[in-house]
Amino acid sequence: MILLTGKARLILATQDGLRPECRCSGRGLLIVLNLFSRIDAPCVDNQGMTLISLGSLFSREAAPLLGVDISSTTIKLVELGRDRAGGLSVEHCAMEPMERGWVVEGNIEKFDEVADALRRLVRKSGSKAKNVALALPGSAVITKKIALPAGLNDKELEIQVESEAAQYIPFPLADVALDFFVMGPSASSASYVDVLLAASRKEKVADRQGLAEAAGLNPTIMDVESYASRMAAGRVIDSLADHGQNALIALFEVGSQTTALQVIRNDDVIYERDQMFGGVNLTQMISKQYGIPVDEADAKKKSGELPPDYSVKVLTPFMENLAQEVGRALQFFFTSTPHNKVDHVLLSGGSAALPGLAEVVSAQTSFPCKVINPFDGMSLSAAVQGRKLAAEATSYLVATGLALRRFHP
Ligand SMILES: Nc1ncnc2c1ncn2[C@@H]1O[C@H](COP(=O)(O)OP(=O)(O)OP(=O)(O)O)[C@@H](O)[C@H]1O
Ligand SMILES: [Mg+2]
Repeated sequence: MILLTGKARLILATQDGLRPECRCSGRGLLIVLNLFSRIDAPCVDNQGMTLISLGSLFSREAAPLLGVDISSTTIKLVELGRDRAGGLSVEHCAMEPMERGWVVEGNIEKFDEVADALRRLVRKSGSKAKNVALALPGSAVITKKIALPAGLNDKELEIQVESEAAQYIPFPLADVALDFFVMGPSASSASYVDVLLAASRKEKVADRQGLAEAAGLNPTIMDVESYASRMAAGRVIDSLADHGQNALIALFEVGSQTTALQVIRNDDVIYERDQMFGGVNLTQMISKQYGIPVDEADAKKKSGELPPDYSVKVLTPFMENLAQEVGRALQFFFTSTPHNKVDHVLLSGGSAALPGLAEVVSAQTSFPCKVINPFDGMSLSAAVQGRKLAAEATSYLVATGLALRRFHP
């Protein structure tokens, strides 16, 4: 649950012309730390008082914001707005392929090529927005919850955070972009507050910042990929029975190289694990089975232009294999926690678009399974092609979560 922090961040952002500085380093970007907010859910403060919805209060004034997800095979862009009825609308949405080796495990290896791809992507999307929210992979960010004395002013907090951070960060603070927010009173003592701090090497932040600037954009928010996913998945969770309250939700993102699992309950992430398994495995199977190059195999996988025996010989075995990997990841979760079941399995990422995958996973794991479309319940602007978007929607979870920061900074 985001508390008053969300509002404070927004005020910080708007006061500073939507260009908040990283509070501690004073040079880096803001790493957004709001853990998880339900879209348009009422914001509840620490005493349990219900406040007005942040969305309804601020959304109309929020400047356009692009959510840009730079991953291993593609860059994806989403811009969200509000329609006349006040609901969310997809204003612009596009993706641009990248060659293998340009981005490896979240590191930008070929800066110029990626910057060119980003420039092409923005042009292709048709958006005129300049502000952009980007994300770092979780592996590039250290987060830590610490307790600090309550009642410190901002300057005192910064000093305390810096000195505490030095204990947890394995490189010199001068090389680090650091941000924090006060989560609320500490459970351990009434005279302390819990503070979440996030740190990343400055070069990781600077790479993404530089890419945005090279493409003529104005980077305003640096998020963490898994936080952005949760932000987008929060809308789907909210639509589950009882708004997903107290439910154990296993969120899988089946990407190209990796499948990432986060188990979420209410606003807490209780387990996270990445597996080296994804859509590239299916592409390789197709390439091998039909003796075609990998690029052609990937295109045909998406268009479905494959021989009649594809379903039996390649697709079904792959989906069963994927379902087993999902089951194995859940077993790891069960063996390392007191839990022995989850209430919902949610699938997203490009490979979740495979037809019938939810049923196969549900049959394998015996848990209810659903594929997430992050645009569910949003209207589409004239600039967006509905049919194309429906086919690719599952790829846009992170980019949508980033774009939602326009309304939930
Ligand atoms: N319609 C589709 N049908 C089947 N597979 C698809 C479809 N669209 C995308 N994919 C596959 O999904 C994968 C890309 O998914 P996604 O965009 O989530 O990955 P990524 O974010 O680039 O990769 P990673 O998260 O591993 O860095 C690719 O293997 C691609 O072939
Ligand atoms: Mg991805």
